[in-house]
Amino acid sequence: MSIKIPRGTQDILPNDISIWQYIEEQARLVFKQFNYQEIRTPIFESTELFQRGVGDSTDIVQKEMYTFEDRGGRSLTLRPEGTASIVRSFVENKMFGLPNQPVKLYYIGPMFRYERPQSGRSRQFTQIGVEAIGSSDPAIDAEVIALAMTFYRNLGLKKLTLVLNSLGDPESRQTYRQALIDHFKPSIDEFCPDCQKRLEQNPLRILDCKVDREHPAMKTAPSILDFLNSESKAYFDQVKKMLDDMGIDYVVDPNLVRGLDYYNHTTFEIMGEGFGAITTLLGGGRYNGLVSELGGPEVPGVGFAFGAERLLLALQAENVKLPVNETLDCFLVAIGDKAKERTVPILFNLRKAGLSADKDYMDRKVKGQFKQADRLNARFVATLGETELEQNVINVKNMATGEEAQIAINELEAYLQKHLKR
Ligand code: HAM
Repeated sequence: MSIKIPRGTQDILPNDISIWQYIEEQARLVFKQFNYQEIRTPIFESTELFQRGVGDSTDIVQKEMYTFEDRGGRSLTLRPEGTASIVRSFVENKMFGLPNQPVKLYYIGPMFRYERPQSGRSRQFTQIGVEAIGSSDPAIDAEVIALAMTFYRNLGLKKLTLVLNSLGDPESRQTYRQALIDHFKPSIDEFCPDCQKRLEQNPLRILDCKVDREHPAMKTAPSILDFLNSESKAYFDQVKKMLDDMGIDYVVDPNLVRGLDYYNHTTFEIMGEGFGAITTLLGGGRYNGLVSELGGPEVPGVGFAFGAERLLLALQAENVKLPVNETLDCFLVAIGDKAKERTVPILFNLRKAGLSADKDYMDRKVKGQFKQADRLNARFVATLGETELEQNVINVKNMATGEEAQIAINELEAYLQKHLKR
């Protein structure tokens, strides 16, 4: 029996790769405009990093991590997200001491979560994200949100909703936490086992439980926004004002608590069209205690990440056509053995000159070679036959206009360079 790909993973085949490369290119472009630099961290880390960083009581740590022991008996985990790793690296490399603050980083790479695979949810997926570490200016919250919106809009997505909330500072959160415990306690027996555990561990998470969404106590739950102390409220107001000033629309949803433990103050998600329903394309927020939790000084941070696979689904759902036509500058067609041989150095010279070019290697007839040129979207086809070979010339055809010319073989490169520019 042949071996199959693991459940919840996918091959990205050559036919689909140009769209991935395009998205990554566009992301790098906006990151540069907003002055974020790339960081690459390992795909596995100490398990403890995610237990402490993402939080022991989260679904990710409790149910979804790919954890294994290596041959040296260390517990390692395939990274389920990027933030904890980036902050680990920030601390380990003492980036808090750099003159250039805040440290603005971005990353692109695979993440791993043992989830039930379905459309838009897989076990290996690609996150593209940013982390701005070192500043507690609300303008940096607004900046990362603006960056995300700019990226999606540049690609051509229109049906986007930015959802915003504030979880406040630890003090606000503590009073809110108690209010939630008091609110849910009388009816907690009617909730799912996960929520019953969450009541003491992390009552905020009850608010985004999918199972108990319709329970009456959900609708009457107190709102975090009524528990923000004056500093937290002022902070949130400034973030909103800056978004207003940039003309970025949002809706405030006090139930947006996010699934990871490190958040405080601003949290946000961008919803879009997805697999037949509105879906979360991107999530992020502020994480002021995370750097110190992972052994660094008291340094604040904010960031987001989105799944590239979900972005592709949203582009499909909105019918956005991306400008990703793969073309070849020139395909060489040879008629006869001598001509075939001669195309080898001609092709090599075109490539050395920086052109993209190819030839037949399957002993195709002339018609078949032209078909191959078509499949490869060749912009020019250069044909060499016995007679041309004797006269040291080659026939060139512009495939878009049908225009043909006979030129000296040693002028082929210059001819193509000139005509490809037009
Ligand atoms: P998250 O909400 O867990 O946040 O994930 C962010 C995005 O990753 C999701 O909105 C979704 O697009 C994608 N994603 C997550 N799980 C899957 C999956 N199983 N299959 C496909 N796509 C998935 C974080 O990971 C935080 N680190 C974001 C952040 C950065 N917060 C601050 N900085």
